Amino acid sequence: MNAAAAHSLEAQALLDATVDAVILIDHRGIVQVFNRSAERLFGYTAAETLGHNVRMLMTERDRDQHDAYLNRYLRTGVAHIIGIGREVQACRKDGSVFPAFLSVGRISGSDPPRFVGFIQDMTLRQQALTALESERERTNRYLEAAQTMLVGLDAQLRVTMVNRKGCEVLGRDEASLLGAGWSEAVVPAERRAALSAEFDALLRHRPREPRHFECPVLAREGAVREIAWRCVAIEDAHGVVNGVLCSGDDITDSRRAEQEVREARERVMHVSRLATMGEMASGISHELNQPLAAITTYAQAGSRLLAMNDPDLAEIREALRQIAEQALRAGEIIRRLRSLVRNRATAREWADLNEVIRELGPLTRADARASDVRVVLDLDPALPRAHLDRIQMQQVVLNLLRNGIDAVQSLPSGQREVHIRTRSTPAGQLQILVLDNGAGVPEELRGQLFTPFLTTKQHGTGLGLAISRSIVEAHRGRLDFQPNQPQGAIFIVTLPGEIAAGQP
Ligand SMILES: Nc1ncnc2c1ncn2[C@@H]1O[C@H](COP(=O)(O)OP(=O)(O)OP(=O)(O)O)[C@@H](O)[C@H]1O
Ligand SMILES: [Mg+2]
Repeated sequence: MNAAAAHSLEAQALLDATVDAVILIDHRGIVQVFNRSAERLFGYTAAETLGHNVRMLMTERDRDQHDAYLNRYLRTGVAHIIGIGREVQACRKDGSVFPAFLSVGRISGSDPPRFVGFIQDMTLRQQALTALESERERTNRYLEAAQTMLVGLDAQLRVTMVNRKGCEVLGRDEASLLGAGWSEAVVPAERRAALSAEFDALLRHRPREPRHFECPVLAREGAVREIAWRCVAIEDAHGVVNGVLCSGDDITDSRRAEQEVREARERVMHVSRLATMGEMASGISHELNQPLAAITTYAQAGSRLLAMNDPDLAEIREALRQIAEQALRAGEIIRRLRSLVRNRATAREWADLNEVIRELGPLTRADARASDVRVVLDLDPALPRAHLDRIQMQQVVLNLLRNGIDAVQSLPSGQREVHIRTRSTPAGQLQILVLDNGAGVPEELRGQLFTPFLTTKQHGTGLGLAISRSIVEAHRGRLDFQPNQPQGAIFIVTLPGEIAAGQP
């Protein structure tokens, strides 16, 4: 085999191994080489194409253009495709048409010129592109239809995407937001530092779970809208974090509504506390009168002692000490009354539930005495501390105790008893039980005991139990009724274990 023949064999092997279809034509467009891939792609054998015009591989539209290209190149030497490549429609033997990418080169030194064409089947790529396009359209439709704000930011926290809802809440159009720094564009200045800390944590630690936080935005006409955000870090194909995707819900209105409900509830509780105070007024004045009377007595005794020739200083000192003590006692009663009546926001603190109950003593003792009721405290000394609103919990116990005192009025004097008991359950819950031996709650009333304004008393408001239950539930607890044996009622406050779990 001579060198030229060997060279030609090598060239043939090379051509056949090429993945692209390779077609060589002369200056008239006559096919001179048609490799294996070309055979596979077009469905022709090389023999069927060699010596024929390459137009046979093109659609009608491209055929005419191809002749024009070729002629123009031969005439002017200006190539429109050489070295660039373009997308064309190619035609198989069976007549089917497929998208192809054609790159053309002129074989150097050939005269008249010959050209080599490389053809890639673009069908799959085109299908993928179409699929991608329709996927993107669908995603866009979802984004636009979403009733939640969706915002994409790059690693520098510039806006890369914002959906219709986002634009709507912000009162801005997409174009004015894209590329803008999110913080500077829409976040109130005083909240930017906090937001930047959130994003920092996201970008740096890229937690698996979305980060939830609240951060307001400046909306239309300078209004501030409170938004609850869920954000995730997004990564590129190499796992490098390159941005953040956030969805946000406008919670301004629901927050306002919650606040209004809270305020309304506090107002009702305030009124109820005033009402309770009103009912207790005679008891309270009695309770205050005792120390005041004592003070008067000791003061008079002191004056008498001083008027003596040789006054007994020790006795005078004792009188003064008693005066001070009784005044402190009166002051203490007034202080507790005030803290109970004062309209105040909820304030939870770690407290000893037994002590919270004992503190009610001065307020209830007189009331109980006047109604001839024995109030018995049975407090579990091993009770864990609890995280609760002291005044509100006292309000609950007072309501239950007053109901108990009312209930035992039907019993003969000397048999009227109300017990207040505390205990913890094996599940770690805390309970306050208020038990009485009154007539109990009639069967038909039991289902509606906690309904506001339900009362069987001439001067009752019917709010006591409703308010108490709402307070207990605000502590994530329960207030239940049980009949007592052999007669009477038991009201049970159950506070959840976690209220006592994190004790200091
Ligand atoms: N310990 C109890 N024994 C029997 N019945 C009770 C007892 N506690 C409450 N009830 C019944 O439940 C009703 C509602 O009680 P609630 O404390 O809500 O209102 P009230 O006591 O009637 O009015 P207020 O609390 O304003 O004085 C009472 O009127 C009474 O009929
Ligand atoms: Mg009541």
